[in-house]
Amino acid sequence: MPDLQKAAKQAVGEQVASMVSSGMKLGLGTGSTAALAIEALGNRIRNEGLEVCGVPTSFASERLALKWGIPLTTLDQTPVLDLAFDGADEVNSDFIVIKGRGAAQTREKIVAAQAKRFVILIDESKLVDRLGTRMPLPIEIVPMAATPVMNVLKALGGDPEIRMGMKKDGPVVSDQGLWIIDAMFDEITDPEHVNRVLLNTPGVLDHGLFIGMVTDVLVGLNDGTVRTMMAR
Ligand code: 5RP
Repeated sequence: MPDLQKAAKQAVGEQVASMVSSGMKLGLGTGSTAALAIEALGNRIRNEGLEVCGVPTSFASERLALKWGIPLTTLDQTPVLDLAFDGADEVNSDFIVIKGRGAAQTREKIVAAQAKRFVILIDESKLVDRLGTRMPLPIEIVPMAATPVMNVLKALGGDPEIRMGMKKDGPVVSDQGLWIIDAMFDEITDPEHVNRVLLNTPGVLDHGLFIGMVTDVLVGLNDGTVRTMMAR
């Protein structure tokens, strides 16, 4: 990762950690930016005795929380969260977000839906004018539904493919034991329609479009400062 991009991710990670106060119940996102926020939160717990607990959105964020000393909880024990933070792959001007490069979008969406405040952490490169053009849309599916779901995605204008493992032969297997289809689009012009169609397709667990969920976006700029955008 280029130094400037790392600095931008670090700045938003530290900023969201500074928004946390003792007693808060948190959602802990997944990805390289959320990882820096988890580390910054761990530093505050160690240095200031901050008392918080968090619901992890993946095995990866669970392990990071353990590493940095963040007490863990579950949505069964803590169904209402004060604040969830997470990274994103794309954010448009309507605060619609695409997530899921780390294949964690299903748990990320479940956790975000329980949070009073959902803070997205990005660098400037993630701000897009046209949704779905920078990164593919990830869809988590039951393996036997791969071809029917890919046909639905083609009808929606997408170019789908099964996500393959990097250090493992065969498909990426999600934390739920399912597969991920990545669909590139020329542009997702009607995200609500794509959302409705996918959620009505048998075999689809969930997908990476987050619509109407974000409350704040923290954008790390290349000069090391952070721009805050409030969605609602
Ligand atoms: C994982 C995600 C990530 O939050 C998203 O891909 C952004 O990752 P990064 O902060 O590494 O750029 O949705 O499923």
